[in-house]
Amino acid sequence: MTGPVPLVIDTDPGIDDALAILLALASPEVDLRLVTTVHGNVELAQTTENALRVLHLAGRSDVPVAAGARDSLVYRQPERAGHVHGAAGLGGVQLPPSPAAVDPRPAVVALAELLLASAAPVTVAAIGPWTNIALLLATYPEAAERIGRLVLMGGSAARGGNVTAAAEFNVWADPEAAQKVLGSAVPTVLVGLDVTLPTVLDAAGIERFAAAGPAGATAAAILQQYLDHARTAYGTPGVVVHDALALTEAIVPGTLGTVRRDVVVDTTLGAGRGQTLVDRRTVSRSPTAVDVAETVDSAAAVEFLVGRLESLARAVG
Ligand code: RIB
Ligand code: CA
Repeated sequence: MTGPVPLVIDTDPGIDDALAILLALASPEVDLRLVTTVHGNVELAQTTENALRVLHLAGRSDVPVAAGARDSLVYRQPERAGHVHGAAGLGGVQLPPSPAAVDPRPAVVALAELLLASAAPVTVAAIGPWTNIALLLATYPEAAERIGRLVLMGGSAARGGNVTAAAEFNVWADPEAAQKVLGSAVPTVLVGLDVTLPTVLDAAGIERFAAAGPAGATAAAILQQYLDHARTAYGTPGVVVHDALALTEAIVPGTLGTVRRDVVVDTTLGAGRGQTLVDRRTVSRSPTAVDVAETVDSAAAVEFLVGRLESLARAVG
C-alpha cells in the first residue's frame, strides 16, 4: 500500500481554484506539498494572497506558496476575469490573512527543487494559465521529467470557448505557454470544457457543505458570485467548478474517460487565438499526444466534491 501521492497545484485563485485547493486538502489520496501561483483570473499579487488565505481557511498555512509568472510569455493577457471571480478574485469574500509568508523562491525554482528531491512521482495540477509550467519545461527540463502526472485544466475539443467563441480562458490567457506545455512528453491529462461544462454544482450541493461548518459556509459565500454569474450569463442552475473537476482527476486517476489525441494551439493573433485544435480523427501514438478527457459521470463528480468539502468543513470546524 503506497502512501498519499505528492501533489503540487499551480493556480490563479479564482473561485473554482479555491474550491480545488480545498478539495485537495480534504483528500487523503494526495499530499499537497506546494502551491505555486500564476497570473490569470486576477493579478499575480492577488492570486498569491488568495492562495495563502484559502490554505489558512482550511488550517493548512503550513503548505508553502511560491509566486510565479505575473504575465503571459509573449503577448499580454487582454483582460483579467474580475467580472467573473470578483475584483479580488474570491467573489467579494475577504478571508482572514494567513500567518504564513510567501515562499521566497520563484515558483519554478520551488517546483523544480521539489520535483528533484521527491522519491515518489509528483502529480502537478495546473489550473490557471500554464505560464509557470512552460517556464519549468524551458528552465528545468530535468525536473519536468520527474513529473509523474500533469493534469491540466484548460482547452476544449468540441465545446468551443468560454472567453471567446474559440478559446477556453487558461489557454487563451497564454497560448504560447499552452503550446509549449502540450508539446512536452510529460504524461498529461487535459481536462477541458468538454467535461467541465456538463458538471454543474447546484445550490443544493453548495448548501450541504455550507451547513457542515464555518469553512464550508465561507466556501459557499465565495461561490455566490460565481453562482449569480452562471445564472445571469448562462441561465444555468448552478456553477461549473472547472478546476475542482481537474483536481478530482488528479486525486482519483481515471475519474474521467480519456483518449490519446494530438493537440495543437492556435497561437495566431486572429479570432481563433487560444483555440485548442484536438485531432479526434484517430487515437494518437505520438509521444507528445495527451490524454484528452472526453467523458465524465458528472453526478458522481459533483457528489465527490460535495462529500469531500462536507468532510473538510466538519474537520476544520
Ligand atoms: O476556463 C476555466 C478556467 O478559467 C478555470 O481555471 C477558471 O479559474 C478560469 O480562470
Ligand atoms: Ca483557475
